[in-house]
Amino acid sequence: MKLASPMLFFTLLAFNGNILQGAAEVENRGQKVWAREGSSALLPCYLSPRKYGKSGKQLLDRTSVLWKRHGASAPHELHVVLEVEYTGLRKMALPMRPRVSVLDSALRNGNFSLRINPVRSDDAGLYKAQVTYNTEIRSCQVELRVVTVTLSPPRPVIENEPLLLSCNSSHQASLVETCWFHNAHPVLTSGDFCSLHGTLCILRPTVSDSGSWRCQLRYADNEVVSVKHNLQILGFDGPTNPVTYAAAGSAADLPCTLNHLPSTFGIHVVKTHWSHFAGGRLQNWSVLQNQSSRHFPLHLATVGLGDAGRYSCAITVGNKMLSRDMTLAVITVTPSIQGPVSEGSHLLLICSLTHSQGHEYFQWKHLSSASADKKLTVATSHKLKDHRVQTGPNLEIPQVSQKDVGIWECSVYGPEGRLGAVEYGLQITGAQVSSSPTIFSGQVTFGLMLTLFILLMVCILALGLQKRVRLPASFPALEQMVAVTVPKEMEKNQKETTQQTKC
Ligand SMILES: *[C@@H]1O[C@H](CO)[C@@H](O)[C@H](O)[C@H]1NC(C)=O
Ligand SMILES: *[C@@H]1O[C@H](CO)[C@@H](O)[C@H](O)[C@H]1NC(C)=O
Ligand SMILES: *[C@@H]1O[C@H](CO)[C@@H](O)[C@H](O)[C@H]1NC(C)=O
Repeated sequence: MKLASPMLFFTLLAFNGNILQGAAEVENRGQKVWAREGSSALLPCYLSPRKYGKSGKQLLDRTSVLWKRHGASAPHELHVVLEVEYTGLRKMALPMRPRVSVLDSALRNGNFSLRINPVRSDDAGLYKAQVTYNTEIRSCQVELRVVTVTLSPPRPVIENEPLLLSCNSSHQASLVETCWFHNAHPVLTSGDFCSLHGTLCILRPTVSDSGSWRCQLRYADNEVVSVKHNLQILGFDGPTNPVTYAAAGSAADLPCTLNHLPSTFGIHVVKTHWSHFAGGRLQNWSVLQNQSSRHFPLHLATVGLGDAGRYSCAITVGNKMLSRDMTLAVITVTPSIQGPVSEGSHLLLICSLTHSQGHEYFQWKHLSSASADKKLTVATSHKLKDHRVQTGPNLEIPQVSQKDVGIWECSVYGPEGRLGAVEYGLQITGAQVSSSPTIFSGQVTFGLMLTLFILLMVCILALGLQKRVRLPASFPALEQMVAVTVPKEMEKNQKETTQQTKC
């Protein structure tokens, strides 16, 4: 029978059989030893010759031990397990040969205990040690009982895959009840847990179901045995439906992290597959496998609105697959005015999330271009600071002025803190003009200014022509640009004023 690897994690907690730790002068009969499958068992046998005590040294040199067991199928047959001849020659019989031992000093110190490591379920049975001191023969008799915890399906246990935990033992008496404990708390077989003939089922195991599980078997003869199993569940780190926040235009890393290194489960083949559904279109990525890592993130170099939405990270470990869904929420700023904003205009900046969980809130902040100025603002005036930090998704600037120029940052906060931020660069058209003290405001002023500016240019042009100075190649191009951008009314004005300046 093949030894199941999960058994390596079992720990026997309690047993009813008596183990004599000290040397016993009387013959050891009817001892019971419980061992969990996969662990090490010690079948005690402490003997010393009755007649000679510890003084009969030469006689002790003629001591030998023979461990035998009753056949499982034919209980009357005795099979040799291990023999140590008085010469020190050891003989061990298959199939237990590599797993049985007695102390090298056994013949001298009287500790003939048999060690079986690891124990298999079919090792259960009655064992007899026959110790021969010349002509005197003494014996020990030990019953080995094996208790087993079985996982179905076997390792690795992965989250969301229904799991069955069962306990059985080699004890012949009828089983009265099986109780289960998780981290020392009794398991109530309701909800995600069910129990059938002592088998515990965990319908949707999660990472939180990891830890110490213990089954306690009670038999009709009042024998009680309990076995502990350290359950490791391979799953994902972090919350179940994580949301990653990223500003439109920025890079994003979607996390996909396992709670354990796959190699700790003996898994050396890991494949990761990412998929994204958007607009009825399925995008796929395969992430390079790295056995020495638990992280399998998806890197998006530039996040666009089309990248928002549901993603799925599927990790194939061995012959099983774990998958986790997550959402990429893109943070955007929508200004009420597209393109450059003119001074004095009413501007509304709307910060929004493509996917909201409902608990997010927004904060607007004006990041001054000069960092020293910003520090000063924060340090000196709370009023000013309050002006520059606003909560809510909408930032309203009733009259855009020079002091509003710069970077506006919209941060998204959640109960866990800052989730992400997006920036909006506010630029005002005609900034050079408006930097001089302005008396008038509004679009009319702007139109006038532009006219005056063009006028000035035309004057320079006229003067230049008069002085027969060669024009740079770029000058006619500028004229063309002016002609294209200036409204028709202004063109009229321009013609009139040109005539005026000629006078
Ligand atoms: C007897 O031998 C076993 C190994 O076979 C050892 O584990 C155990 O501690 C020994 N007992 C004493 C009392 O020394
Ligand atoms: C317990 O049950 C398993 C599976 O049915 C079996 O392989 C094992 O031998 C049993 N263990 C004992 C101690 O009887
Ligand atoms: C695998 O991941 C580990 C830890 O993250 C890193 O040190 C190592 O360089 C990676 N190996 C490859 C081949 O990417």
